[in-house]
Amino acid sequence: MKTGEVSPASIIIFGAKGDLTKRKLIPALYNLYTEDHLPSSFAIFCVDFLTVDETAYRNDLLEGIDDFSRNGKADKEKWAFFSARIFYVQGDFMKAGTYNTLKEKIKEFEEQIKQRGTRMFYFAVAPRFIEPIADALWRAKLCNRDTLDRIVVEKPFGSDLDSARKLNRYISKRFKEKQIYHIDHYLGKEMVQNIMAFRFANYVFEPLWNNKYIDHIQISVAEEVGVGKRGGYYDSSGALRDMIQNHLLQLLCIIAMDCPKEYEAEAIRDAKVRVLKNVRTWTTQQVFENVVRGQYTPGEINGMSRVGYRQEEQVAPDSTTETFVAARLFIDNERWKGVPFFLRTGKSMPRQSSVIMIQFKDSPHKIFRDDIEPNQLIISIQPELEIDLMFESKVPGLHMKLLPVEMDFMYKDAYTQSLPEAYESLLLDVLEGEATQFMRADQIEAAWKVVMPIQEAWEKYPRKQLRLYEAGTWGPSVANAILKPYAKEWFLLPSREGVKEIKEIKEIKEIKKTDKPAITAS
Ligand code: BG6
Repeated sequence: MKTGEVSPASIIIFGAKGDLTKRKLIPALYNLYTEDHLPSSFAIFCVDFLTVDETAYRNDLLEGIDDFSRNGKADKEKWAFFSARIFYVQGDFMKAGTYNTLKEKIKEFEEQIKQRGTRMFYFAVAPRFIEPIADALWRAKLCNRDTLDRIVVEKPFGSDLDSARKLNRYISKRFKEKQIYHIDHYLGKEMVQNIMAFRFANYVFEPLWNNKYIDHIQISVAEEVGVGKRGGYYDSSGALRDMIQNHLLQLLCIIAMDCPKEYEAEAIRDAKVRVLKNVRTWTTQQVFENVVRGQYTPGEINGMSRVGYRQEEQVAPDSTTETFVAARLFIDNERWKGVPFFLRTGKSMPRQSSVIMIQFKDSPHKIFRDDIEPNQLIISIQPELEIDLMFESKVPGLHMKLLPVEMDFMYKDAYTQSLPEAYESLLLDVLEGEATQFMRADQIEAAWKVVMPIQEAWEKYPRKQLRLYEAGTWGPSVANAILKPYAKEWFLLPSREGVKEIKEIKEIKEIKKTDKPAITAS
């Protein structure tokens, strides 16, 4: 549990010149500072290879805040105070000299504040640097107090089960598990954190949260963006490794887990690992029946033309890397036996929409003449944050006519405060030594075990059933087929603006349930 206390801290970021530092980490730290969450004494050491003038570097970071912070442009005075605590450390990650310089700088700061403070080492670097940096920190004894010193490792954590295991072993030989924070920024999102509160602090839904009442669950993370400038990384990764192995499986865990014994890191992570261990793994043949992969071709989004994936920078012109995945999974435990979980993610889709839809079974009471829609519980993570319950209601009038209506909880109506960014919440957690929202090593391995059969099947047959979809569409149409007979198409939360969306609402209400022989769970 968070203590709410942060001792004086040295924050060290490896990858000072990277996009993550400029767009996410520094704006998040700045917001923590302006909202009084950082300790009174802190220093931020940003390490990278390039030779950079410190003033120019700070100005570049300011641009990042002005452009990407949720609070808009930085305040002049606050920035002056904050930026005076940012130091650029030029150094090669592979050379011991870099760590000696760093050590001197950290010591100098700790002497000034007369205290051995917390040290947070953030690895915002390409995967090949993780081991060398971890090793150098350990050799230089920079991160050796397990109660004060922490490392934060960004995904991708390995590129398959073997490499993840190897990396886990390598790191755990040098640091204690409680010092290692594997970050998945989805766990820092406000609505994702709220799912546990929603499930376990309210008694209304939990009794229904099982295969007796739930028909199926859809977890969909659609992105409007393409791969942009990240083609070099993405082409050897693909949507399965980039999104499913981490973000979507984490969402699955939170939705499917049993109530942990307490709200405490180990108990919560144990409950999540149990979910992953029970996910049924597919044979190669079953992969092609239960998982759809797609790749976007040129198209149009919001009136702007978009290139296809193979035309993106640093992407092979004959690439078979998937930018879309839709998968049907089963969790073979008592609670979920027979309930399909449909996971979908894709890039270059019509708009951003991360939504979990829980569809309940049909009402057993057949007393009305109308065709009754099953209840749906909708948890929208972004861009809108809301929880909606769709239920049948009598249409006002003289006859008993039913139609679905919606009971909704929307953050923008319920709360006035601006919501913290995921990285703000997670960085503060690390500084406070709170690991609840981070992945444990065994959880990462369990997630790799779920995706490995899919990855292996696709590696073996790189062109088989690779479906092309036009940028600006919701993915290959065959992705709807894996929903059968549970639904005709993927659930779409209408955005709240525009006539087009109102039309969509009507369409959703008119979707009739399909006849369904159940998919067998054995
Ligand atoms: C990252 C992936 O982890 O998450 C990106 O590497 C993806 O490819 C991003 O775009 C999505 O995050 P968000 O917060 O924009 O939904």
